[in-house]
Amino acid sequence: MKKVFLLSAVLVTASAFAQKQPTAWRVDSVLQLMTLEEKVGQMNQYNGFWNATGPAPEGGDAATKYQHLRNGWVGSVLNVQGVEEVRAMQRVAVEETRLGIPLIFGCDVIHGYKTLSPIPLAEAASWDLEAIAKSAHNGAEEATSYGLNWTFAPMVDISRDPRWGRIMEGAGEDPYLGSRIAEARVRGFQGEQLNDPRSMAACAKHFAGYGFSEAGRDYNTVDVSDYTLYNVIYPPFQAAKKAGVATFMNSFNTMNGIPATGNQALAELLKEDWGFEGVLVSDWGSVGEMIAHGYARNLKEAAEQAANARCDMDMESLAYVQFLASLVREGKVSESLVDDAARRVLKLKFDLGLMDDPYRYCNRPGSWEPTTSPWAADAQELAEKSAVLLKNNGILPLVKKQAIALVGPMAQEKNSPLGNWRVSSDDFTALSLYEGLVQVRGEKRMTVASGPVFLKGPISFPFEAEINTTDTSGMHAVVKAAGEAEIAILAVGEHGFHSGEARSRMSLHLPGLQEQLIREVLKVQEHVVLVLYAGRPMILPDDITEQVDAILLAWQPGTMGGPAIANLLMGKRSPSGRLPVTFPRSEGQIPLYYGAYTTGRPGPSDAVFWSHYGDGPNTPAYPFGYGLTYSTVTYAATQVKQMGDSMAVTALVKNEGKVAVDEVVQLYARDHHSRLGVQPVRRLIGFQRVTLKPGEERMMTFSVTADQLSVATSEGERMFEPGTFSFWVAPHSAAGTSASIDWK
Ligand code: GLC
Repeated sequence: MKKVFLLSAVLVTASAFAQKQPTAWRVDSVLQLMTLEEKVGQMNQYNGFWNATGPAPEGGDAATKYQHLRNGWVGSVLNVQGVEEVRAMQRVAVEETRLGIPLIFGCDVIHGYKTLSPIPLAEAASWDLEAIAKSAHNGAEEATSYGLNWTFAPMVDISRDPRWGRIMEGAGEDPYLGSRIAEARVRGFQGEQLNDPRSMAACAKHFAGYGFSEAGRDYNTVDVSDYTLYNVIYPPFQAAKKAGVATFMNSFNTMNGIPATGNQALAELLKEDWGFEGVLVSDWGSVGEMIAHGYARNLKEAAEQAANARCDMDMESLAYVQFLASLVREGKVSESLVDDAARRVLKLKFDLGLMDDPYRYCNRPGSWEPTTSPWAADAQELAEKSAVLLKNNGILPLVKKQAIALVGPMAQEKNSPLGNWRVSSDDFTALSLYEGLVQVRGEKRMTVASGPVFLKGPISFPFEAEINTTDTSGMHAVVKAAGEAEIAILAVGEHGFHSGEARSRMSLHLPGLQEQLIREVLKVQEHVVLVLYAGRPMILPDDITEQVDAILLAWQPGTMGGPAIANLLMGKRSPSGRLPVTFPRSEGQIPLYYGAYTTGRPGPSDAVFWSHYGDGPNTPAYPFGYGLTYSTVTYAATQVKQMGDSMAVTALVKNEGKVAVDEVVQLYARDHHSRLGVQPVRRLIGFQRVTLKPGEERMMTFSVTADQLSVATSEGERMFEPGTFSFWVAPHSAAGTSASIDWK
């Protein structure tokens, strides 16, 4: 009996005749062979649960999961490391189950696999969409050589709260920039053809609103207006869907009081209103977490709620595999929902080419040392483009003959620059800033001293790091080295594991003894360059930012961060990064973002009755879009004129300096009056990254259509309302000379 079924399944799916049929036909031809339990099995995803190249697991969860795998009750597995592991697990699915339906192998390939590019927020600071797409494709190329075919990226959550550690994983605060980057990343991961063995299915996550977790505390409640959802939070998801993203992942948080994983309204928006036909996977355990939310009384009810909210796959809650078939037989979940989910999963497997060749991602086994891999050069270039020069009084770029002291906890760091989402990379494989400087200028006339120990204990993905706030040993060596050099380069910041999932922080100041270290150095050395490593906006005290000569934000720059930052310091390339997120002066200002509404009392006023603080300014330390170069680029006043149904917005920009620079020319708009809903004081609607040679001037031209200025009502209807608009062609969100026009 089993052989007959197996044979018919193989014939149906892999025969030459079948391969010529439309995918829907092929999916249905498999679906009709499946039992209810096997359909539910396609909706079940496990984390890698045993060393598949070893003996079958005996006892415990692993044995249970192994039996489920052999029953054909597993559709996908995540975090399987190594192509032989993948092949061995796939063999069980293909050869030991009744129908032989292959597994999809997922993993968080967020900014690279073993060769890590800068963290996503850093990549966003490059505003270089082609480079970002290439980075995603490089990650896919490396990850697929290890047998994987589904990445849980891009994370497209907009966030305005740097206390939230996962701000490092997205593209910052702006829906326009976030949407363009979402498209680029989907394009990069998925390539032209999803069944290309160098491409992988992408996943728009976390649907939706996760970046608005209250108080910046991860997994916390989200309660936002529909107006914000439609105008700020949904656009990058819609952009990802329009770019053809194969999957979505729902989020841990509630939406209008209902957990996203069990939120039928959210699923209906995605699958009916937006017409999404791919797979909606839960987040890790988020089906089961509806019990903790107080929405489900038990796991069976959670399974019912998630299935009725059209969550197609259960990641690691074991809810569907235990209860969904009986829920269908009890009439609590319609079998048509199970069929729809199973169809979506099977379609993805056909689209990936797995149904025709389950081992197609196992044929390019590779293992590269990250710093010399085929993708290292791209990772380095993107790190160079992502760093943001926040201050420079002319001390940068350095010159080779200067005697420098490289000091601070990040000076020789080979682990932290990899960031938090390095689930497949190997710790300590980054090139440090010290190694980078040795490469680019040699080690002559360079001393190095890391200073006090930064973290007391080991640091790893699942555990907090204990920060040293008492042991100052090593401080003297730093002060000595800094005092004896011509220039001190202070490499400071937060550790790569201080941001990322579950890494929320109340303080955005430098952790530990670093501010004290900097002040000690400033007492003995007047020429100081600060290199800041961070996965989020950080706050530097005014006395420090005023005294240091330069500040270069390195973010967490990835495997090749050392050479990248060294090249910028030595002037091999001018910095060109622009902030994708606002840097506040104080945590008390959060949420602080450029695209805010004016309020009814924008002020300022002689009296106190306007929107302000009594103990500090409303303005940020560094605004969205801000970043310096090693030259000076001037912007003439913006011009605008009607051109038929659109507007032509122009401005002359000029590189006044002696070095070539990449300039990110930004286009902002303001709709001065809108009955559709109040509008932000500025809204990014376009940008162009251009290279300007010394002395070169260029007329920058943007064509603006009414659609680009449309507004979503709180019912989700996008409309354009004629009226008075202002436009800025500017270097950042707080600069430029505007031009206004009445749009009839
Ligand atoms: C995590 C994250 C999600 C990730 C998933 C699988 O908890 O929230 O972004 O893709 O689990 O690792």
